[in-house]
Amino acid sequence: MSNQTSAKRDGFVSSLGILLAMTGSAVGLGNLWRFPYLVGENGGATFIIFYLVCVIFICMPIMVCEFIIGRRSQANAFGAYKRLGGDKGWKVAGLLSVLAAAFILSFYSVVGGWSIRYLVLACGLKFTAAGGIQPETMFNSFVTSTWAPIIYTLIFLACTGIIIVAGVKNGIEKFTKALMPVLFVLMVILAVRSMTLPGAGEGVRYLFKPDFSKFTSSSAIAALGQAFFSLSLGCGTILTYASYVPRKENILKCSAETTALDTLFALIAGCAIMPAVFAYGISPGQGPGLVFVTLPAIFSELPAGGFAAILFFVSLFLAALTSAISLLEVVIAFLIEECNLRRPVAVGVSMSVFVVLAVLCSLSQGALSHVKIFSLNIFDLFDYVSANVLMTFGALLAVLFVGHKLKRADIQDELSSGGIYGVPRGFFKALYFIIRWAAPAVIIAILIAGLIS
Ligand code: PFF
Repeated sequence: MSNQTSAKRDGFVSSLGILLAMTGSAVGLGNLWRFPYLVGENGGATFIIFYLVCVIFICMPIMVCEFIIGRRSQANAFGAYKRLGGDKGWKVAGLLSVLAAAFILSFYSVVGGWSIRYLVLACGLKFTAAGGIQPETMFNSFVTSTWAPIIYTLIFLACTGIIIVAGVKNGIEKFTKALMPVLFVLMVILAVRSMTLPGAGEGVRYLFKPDFSKFTSSSAIAALGQAFFSLSLGCGTILTYASYVPRKENILKCSAETTALDTLFALIAGCAIMPAVFAYGISPGQGPGLVFVTLPAIFSELPAGGFAAILFFVSLFLAALTSAISLLEVVIAFLIEECNLRRPVAVGVSMSVFVVLAVLCSLSQGALSHVKIFSLNIFDLFDYVSANVLMTFGALLAVLFVGHKLKRADIQDELSSGGIYGVPRGFFKALYFIIRWAAPAVIIAILIAGLIS
């Protein structure tokens, strides 16, 4: 064990801080730009119900596994498997998690940079009738240009690094505790504004009216994939944060609350975005197009739209930032504990690598767009490999590890926090079954479906 690990570890100090840090990791771009669109495209309420089933019966048990591994080991993702796994093989699981987090952070920070650029534009009242912008042309020329997106990406990475240098208690916990309530209030204001626009009812129906004909087998896979990404599973973030959770905390309760808050944020985001999109008769598009083209077009027509634009892009930035710090912490915890680096040095070392990777992702939208690997540009490759391969394998190994490697008594001990909380027998049996058999089977099915598609 390294000196750093044996010295007193930094950690969370309050239950609320833990919940908001976990929720901060989960609530991100996935909630704001993917969830609303997926709901509308895949049968509205039908999709939401299936999503909830996936979240409760598959994803929450996976989250619980990451909690168990993290808190029991009190170590970074790699060290956790090393410490609890005993033999060499399991360390691969930890390594995959660290890699997944690094890959995601590389492209995520580029989009985080875009959110800062758009916030600056919003503050300059560009998204008003007087702003005179052409959202599509503006977006395309911005992301394909060389220097501007790189500079904003570096600013985003710097913000992430500064919070992480301050540590778990003084950085992550303090900031997420302050930022998440702000994000919640902003999203609620936006949702109320959007839902009270004339013609907003169509958007609400798009989101919530059940339409079984639109729900297909690919909708089911999309729901599961979204639940995975949205809950930040399989890339060591929950595991690493859980390693900072004190023994007295109820990890079952914390998993349930994180899951509930993440889903609530996603629904509020849907209510903030889709009613406005429909009120202006625009067709909803997925991903960057929705957030950086469609919404600016709406803001410029909306009464007091300039103000709504500022609120929206602050929200987008905060959501991306709190997710990014959780991703960076996976790598930092690994460097501190496995390579014996001091936190500021670990941040410096990892930042120099992330700057290179993020710059490549940024350039792949423009100057390097001709560079294709498996017919994907660098940005899309990082996205694809992390979401479809590394995260899925990371989650699979986490459930297999808890279900088949850890002792049943140790799992019970961890779930009850050493006997402080009662865990009903029937509940434990069902959970244990899901962890051992159902969750691995579903994850393997997703992997196969992903390979086929
Ligand atoms: N959950 C984040 C989102 O919905 O945008 C994305 C994410 C963050 C994925 C952290 C994985 C992770 F470890």
